[in-house]
Amino acid sequence: MLFTRRHVLKTAAAASLLPLSARAAYPLLEARETKQLVAPDGFPETTVWSFNGSVPGATIRVGQGARVQRRLVNQLPQPTSVHWHGIRIDNAMDGVPGLTQGAVETGSSFDYDFVARDAGTYWYHAHNRSMEQVARGLYGPLIVEEARAPDIDQDLILMLDDWRLDPETAEITDDFDNGHDLSHAGRLGNLVTVNGSFDPAFSVQRHDRLRLRLINASNARIYDLKLDGLSGWIVALDGMPLETPFELSGSFPLAPAQRADLIVDVITEGDTASLVSIERDGAFGLTRFDVAGNAAKVQRQGVSTLPPNPLPEIKNLESTPLHKMVLQGGAMRWLESARIGETELSGRELAQLGRFWALNGYAERPDDPFLKAEIGSPHRVEFVNETAFPHAMHLHGHHFRLILDDGSLGPWRDTVLVGRGQTRQIALIADNPGDWLLHCHMLGHAASGMMSWFRVA
Ligand code: C2O
Ligand code: CU
Repeated sequence: MLFTRRHVLKTAAAASLLPLSARAAYPLLEARETKQLVAPDGFPETTVWSFNGSVPGATIRVGQGARVQRRLVNQLPQPTSVHWHGIRIDNAMDGVPGLTQGAVETGSSFDYDFVARDAGTYWYHAHNRSMEQVARGLYGPLIVEEARAPDIDQDLILMLDDWRLDPETAEITDDFDNGHDLSHAGRLGNLVTVNGSFDPAFSVQRHDRLRLRLINASNARIYDLKLDGLSGWIVALDGMPLETPFELSGSFPLAPAQRADLIVDVITEGDTASLVSIERDGAFGLTRFDVAGNAAKVQRQGVSTLPPNPLPEIKNLESTPLHKMVLQGGAMRWLESARIGETELSGRELAQLGRFWALNGYAERPDDPFLKAEIGSPHRVEFVNETAFPHAMHLHGHHFRLILDDGSLGPWRDTVLVGRGQTRQIALIADNPGDWLLHCHMLGHAASGMMSWFRVA
């Protein structure tokens, strides 16, 4: 009797399971369902998808230059994968199903093995059906420590997420394919958590110096953050140290997938300090710092820069080739038409397929790369946002420099927020060989059209 396709697939899955115990064991990263109190005290626990049983997943913390090895084991009812966000990584380890690896089926595993050559604050998250899997909790922090740590008293990770929970059951509302969300600002929730819980508290001492590693794991929410009772500097963005620390005053934005490393001093005379999110209807505390007195402790002055990472130099900006990436579609600027493969479809046909956005005229990752770059070559990309919404554009495998309005080079980033109607330029050296995604990190936008890629060869 001939094997049916289903039978073959089953056998293949079983075969990949068998050698698990035989192969040298990497530490496990198990994608599995669990229950966790996400909502405020008194609410029921929420069914979440986790890495190793908690949201955020297990913190991975290594020294700069160290090797990270993890065996992803998928115990979820959907295929999954892990993307190491912001890490300049070997292409084969980038975790993009259909581009760099196959999706890891239920019951199967995949070994990730890479060197973390840049110090800083990174994160990892599922990269299959991301808009659902990340929303269910499949993310965790990845911290790469500098050889010489800055002078601080505490190093705190604050991973922000925005959940949409049923107000009675506290279960995740599973309306991931909701066309209204996809075509507007994305899936915004009704509960913001830090480190998977509502309004957590940390104990600090007056005049402590804290390093706060902020990571925005939300599907779509752009935060406008402010500190209360703390003062200091932004010292790194998207993992990469700023050449000059930026002194905080007022609020600062944090778009989906972005990180900001802060070094701040506890300056309050009161007994609490906080991280505050400024929303349309007021300011909300996200994290509390309970301050214990230590009258003798003296506040530090000034801050030093973090040691730079080995990033390529970008020179001769004017002669660097410029590639346009036009962002189109969404509510109020509906697509007239766009392509899927080589087929041009009308906006109405696209909407029926759940596609509302396009990058350079494609409403799905095209067959050909948007850019074919020779290894080591410099490029500028100009994001032209013709939509009525902001987008957080992310490149895989590379960091890039923002080009500021005056034409000078701004900070290194891996995700840039492009406001509605805005045009923003970035510059990069395409020095990492392979096929790399470029997409909006509002995950519903990526799923409904804002997905492209480039090839470095
Ligand atoms: Cu953080 Cu393609 O993703
Ligand atoms: Cu977007």
